[in-house]
Amino acid sequence: MKTARSHHSRPLTENPTVARENRLGVRGWQALGLAFGLTLSVSCHADGAAIATTGAGAAPACQTCHGPAGEGIAQAGFPRLAGLGAAYMQRQLDAFADGTRVNAVMMPIAQALSDTDRAAVSAYYAALPEPPGPTTPKTASTSGPEAAAVGATLATRGRWADTLPACENCHGPGGRGVGPDFPLLAGQSAAYLAGQLTAWKAGTRPPGPMGLMTVVARKLSDDEVRAIADYYAELPARGSR
Ligand code: HEC
Ligand code: HEC
Repeated sequence: MKTARSHHSRPLTENPTVARENRLGVRGWQALGLAFGLTLSVSCHADGAAIATTGAGAAPACQTCHGPAGEGIAQAGFPRLAGLGAAYMQRQLDAFADGTRVNAVMMPIAQALSDTDRAAVSAYYAALPEPPGPTTPKTASTSGPEAAAVGATLATRGRWADTLPACENCHGPGGRGVGPDFPLLAGQSAAYLAGQLTAWKAGTRPPGPMGLMTVVARKLSDDEVRAIADYYAELPARGSR
């Protein structure tokens, strides 16, 4: 009796039906434990790899759009997920699910995943090695030596007259990401990067930690958005070193 309880502790002891049945013999406990054990293994041990490769319920396989190695499809603006932090990705999936991060493709997909699914698939992608960048092509028709210089200046120096810090101050040298809150930008799809900055300007992506990116994005002109997106898309990701 004691072993059965401690083995399957929470659901058994918290469940009122089970509490009323506490005169069950050892066999009865074992049968109940088995039933709960099965339910638990289905609901709590979501398999991130399985979700990524075959989907989960109404959610399609992530790899259809994010690539078999989590490399994304740059031209289509489907972001690379490999190498992003697990906590960061989970927060994005939660935001798609509650509709604060607006995207017609990702909202229904995130809604179709349970909390455990979101955690498992985020952990799966975070553990994949970053595919080598760059994954270009560019967004910009404006891109040329001038735009490249604009991108490089914003990335490494910012614009202090406008209290716009350098992107590197938060995203790290070369845009390689810092800790769980400042995502990797290097080698990411240019179309995707530009789309995110535009979304912050428009208020269709939640402000994120301390509202930092809303403030940054609103100081950038549309041309600067394209220039900085191209700049980061062309930098190599960590994995390619
Ligand atoms: C039909 C294509 C498609 C499928 C399938 C898909 N995604 Fe996406 N995903 C996108 C697009 C497009 C975006 C960019 C959304 C935006 O611009 O805000 C995105 C963005 C994301 C982001 C945000 C990345 C970042 O850097 O903030 C995460 C996380 C994500 N998807 C996870 C998943 C997971 C997990 C699955 C599978 C359950 C999945 N996606 C399936 C198209 C797809
Ligand atoms: C003061 C700190 C700070 C600075 C400076 C900063 N960022 Fe960010 N950035 C963040 C944070 C925090 C996030 C994560 C937001 C979230 O969790 O939604 C982020 C996220 C992003 C994303 C989304 C990445 C993805 O995968 O969806 C892009 C794109 C981005 N930043 C570009 C830039 C660019 C370009 C600059 C320079 C012009 C810049 N950032 C400067 C803090 C900063």
